[in-house]
Amino acid sequence: MRTIDWIDGAVELVDQTVLPDELVLLRIGTVDGLVDAVRRLAVRGAPALGVAGALGTALAVRDEPDPLAAAARLRAARPTAVNLARGVDEALACLDGGFEAVLGRALRIRDDDIAACLAMGRRGADLVRELTGRDRPRVMTVCNTGGLAAVEYGTALGVVRTLHERGQLARALALETRPLLQGTRLTAWELERMGAPYRLVADSAGPFLLARGHADAVLIGADRIAADGDTANKIGSYALALGARRAGVPFVVVAPESTVDPATPTGAAIEIEERCGEEVLGVRGVRLAPEGARALNPAFDVTPHDLITAIVTERRVIRPERGERP
Ligand code: MRU
Repeated sequence: MRTIDWIDGAVELVDQTVLPDELVLLRIGTVDGLVDAVRRLAVRGAPALGVAGALGTALAVRDEPDPLAAAARLRAARPTAVNLARGVDEALACLDGGFEAVLGRALRIRDDDIAACLAMGRRGADLVRELTGRDRPRVMTVCNTGGLAAVEYGTALGVVRTLHERGQLARALALETRPLLQGTRLTAWELERMGAPYRLVADSAGPFLLARGHADAVLIGADRIAADGDTANKIGSYALALGARRAGVPFVVVAPESTVDPATPTGAAIEIEERCGEEVLGVRGVRLAPEGARALNPAFDVTPHDLITAIVTERRVIRPERGERP
């Protein structure tokens, strides 16, 4: 199953707001419909957002009176994942060839993502076994970086999947990932479907479980990797990196080359999406905090490169803590 695709002249995507209760495909034929889906996280995860940006640009070129303005709205729908902007820009670069050329570019981005995820799965699984010295490592992960965050297969969870398919996964620990619970709702759904051994854990348990030796490696995805290797990813990643360093556990980022952003010099320059406080004040629309309570809701954090043991892409392994740069 593909998370996002172009079917009969429209974008089709799995609605991630209703999983795991329902598996619903949304058919979206307008740029503003896609902007709304991106903002609501019906489609989410950096690689999937890249494909959404490119396919949405094809919709803009085909249907919109002002395609550049429509593409700009899509590009700005979420600021942190560089893949969204890159998907729009790469598709727009084919504008002179008209709709067919733009769509062709978008479909290549889709296909490249599928191939990249498979390559990262293999390279990442080999690397985790090498770094941990374990034939069957136990790994910890945060958010959802599986097939739902890409077109198929995924990045960090794609490594978990490869380990599992090879019979080399002892256990995965998946953080729940408050406030929107991508771990509880989406990663657990994927792990169930693949039949992998796993436990869900509260976000705040992550660093302590590392200290007590419950995982041999931490695997995360990325929304943007700066030129110095600093990595933006789901909020909670930085706390895991600190806990991993203290516990002497390798901390590995798994992301395609398209998530590396040479134009962003360091993590300090990465714009962090601030989402609505209501997401923190309750759960799935049910208010838990008292009347008058207000929240801060950064959707991402930045892990400094010196806490990152390795970055795995479809082409290479970079070792930021050793001074290597992407
Ligand atoms: O807010 P989300 O759910 O889009 O955040 C997703 C993440 O932080 C992922 O870890 C990242 O995009 C990599 S997905 C392979």
